[in-house]
Amino acid sequence: MEDQAAKLRQMIEYRNLSVEHKLTDHQMQEKKIARNLRIIAITSGKGGVGKTNFTVNLAIALSQAGANVLIIDADLGLANVEVLLGCSSAYTMMNLLNDNVSLADVILQGPEGIRYISGGSGLEQLADLSINDRTLLINKLYECEEFADIILVDTGAGVGRNVLDFLIAADEIILLTTPEPTALTDAYAVVKACRNYSETLHIKLVVNRIYDEDEGREVSVKLIATTKQFLGISIATLGVVYDDHNMVNAIKKQVPLLLSYSNTIAAKCIRTIAKSILQGRSTKIKRNWRDFLHRLIFSR
Ligand SMILES: Nc1ncnc2c1ncn2[C@@H]1O[C@H](COP(=O)(O)OP(=O)(O)O)[C@@H](O)[C@H]1O
Ligand SMILES: [Mg+2]
Repeated sequence: MEDQAAKLRQMIEYRNLSVEHKLTDHQMQEKKIARNLRIIAITSGKGGVGKTNFTVNLAIALSQAGANVLIIDADLGLANVEVLLGCSSAYTMMNLLNDNVSLADVILQGPEGIRYISGGSGLEQLADLSINDRTLLINKLYECEEFADIILVDTGAGVGRNVLDFLIAADEIILLTTPEPTALTDAYAVVKACRNYSETLHIKLVVNRIYDEDEGREVSVKLIATTKQFLGISIATLGVVYDDHNMVNAIKKQVPLLLSYSNTIAAKCIRTIAKSILQGRSTKIKRNWRDFLHRLIFSR
């Protein structure tokens, strides 16, 4: 009951805000959106299953295949993406609230042309921001669509609002799990939590750290059947990534696997997944970046 009430309140709030922001919406129509931008959130339920490493290496694989990729580190407060990339940022997304800070100031250049924005711990304060601040933030973030084809959002673990908001706003969700029962249970919990907010979820499953193909298949079949049976949600399989000690070596070097050990089994798996993502492009039902930002920033 309480959940439903919260959902209703949220819908009403969103509508009201949409009216107040009519001018922005109008401007949105006027601006031609040339790119066919995709927003893909990567999540898992359980922490430590490999989301951030997967995101960073997937970004590199997509970039090597010709896409312009932007990573948003939405694992608030941890900033693991930049550690893996071996760089550090002075600014986070929340610094955009400062009049003197532009989008170019908060975007970092990673390897292979990938770009990166740290969400920063301040993102948790989104809910407390004034309408003016939200508008300022959203207007600056709009510019991302001018240079990105794919935005990957590395979310935190768990099913808190800070994770769910990103998942619900995204076009597609990549659900990452390992074969461990605890990871599977938590992956199921994320799908269940998302379903409370949206019935049109496009979820694709990646099983990380498998030892052989049978194991990967078994895990996929189990999770997909359970979510279908108990939640009525169809999840597609996107791929598997082998457990590979080179992943750990790459982390130690702070050079992503795809650049430091590019011919290893895990690197090959991630490249195959990138290919599937790019091939699946035309079949997607898509929201645009502005719609994503509205959902994220004004629906709280
Ligand atoms: N395919 C893999 N093979 C071996 N180890 C992996 C693999 N993927 C992840 N790991 C290990 O899991 C740890 C956690 O990964 P990380 O990407 O930080 O997880 P998350 O972002 O989900 O918390 C890494 O430090 C690494 O040791
Ligand atoms: Mg992480």
